[in-house]
Amino acid sequence: MEKSPLAGLLDYVVPVLLVVVVLLVLHLLKTIAFPHIFPWVVARITINYNKAMASFKQELLKDMKDQLDSLREKPVDGSSANGEAQPSLTVLEIGVGSGANFKFYPDGTTVIAVEPNKNFVGYLEKSVAEHFPRVRLQRTVIAYGEDLRDHVEDCSVDAVVCTLVLCSVRDIDAVLQETKRVLKPGGKFYFLDHIAADPETWTSTLQWVLRPVWSYVGDGCQLVRKVWPEVDRAGFSRVSYKKFLAHPTLPRVIRPHVMGMATK
Ligand SMILES: C[S@@+](CC[C@H](N)C(=O)[O-])C[C@H]1O[C@@H](n2cnc3c(N)ncnc32)[C@H](O)[C@@H]1O
Repeated sequence: MEKSPLAGLLDYVVPVLLVVVVLLVLHLLKTIAFPHIFPWVVARITINYNKAMASFKQELLKDMKDQLDSLREKPVDGSSANGEAQPSLTVLEIGVGSGANFKFYPDGTTVIAVEPNKNFVGYLEKSVAEHFPRVRLQRTVIAYGEDLRDHVEDCSVDAVVCTLVLCSVRDIDAVLQETKRVLKPGGKFYFLDHIAADPETWTSTLQWVLRPVWSYVGDGCQLVRKVWPEVDRAGFSRVSYKKFLAHPTLPRVIRPHVMGMATK
């Protein structure tokens, strides 16, 4: 018996509808569950990333010790601005996540943590407890790095740190302008991120192919950003950076890295 045109149409429509429904449910699950799952994933990945990248992070942040020493050499009347006997280095960390960088900060660092996802706070507090009193947390600001005007005063911090964050922010230029605004004159911006591979390499092709899915499951993380051109043109008085391939244990698509320092 011949099928009616409507039955023939339904043969196509029903599977398509099923796929749409499954995708919608997955998307809904991602929207609701992802902000909770992502911090858990990042906190775990961080352990291996820090092992693989320890020497680079030490190299990146080594000038913090000099910054702290020069703060301590300055004559201070009575106590320091934050009421402590010894001046400490005030570091604003944008996209602090689980506090992965605390172990690399010099003894006497006070951190203002900026993080848009409040589900990171538990992991952050654990890290704070682990590194206290070497590193102290002044406060946690739940906000995006693009606009910190309600939370952090102009020219108020000695250093700003961004690691694995500029790959994900919606507007790098806005984050860099905020960084410049909050830094004291002569303050330092330390940055480290994975970047686009050299064009015409297999890694570059892979990055472009994986880009949409990676960004979808990776909280907006972009595989093909360069980062250094934006820092270069942000108007810092001095910028230095180096591009390098990170440890081979990292996935190939995030092995190309840049790290550097910019001075206000
Ligand atoms: C891959 S994690 C890196 C965390 C940490 N910096 C590290 O090195 O382990 C990216 C972090 O950037 C944060 N983030 C994403 N967009 C941001 C934005 N616009 N401003 C500030 N932080 C942001 C995320 O919530 C997350 O904590």
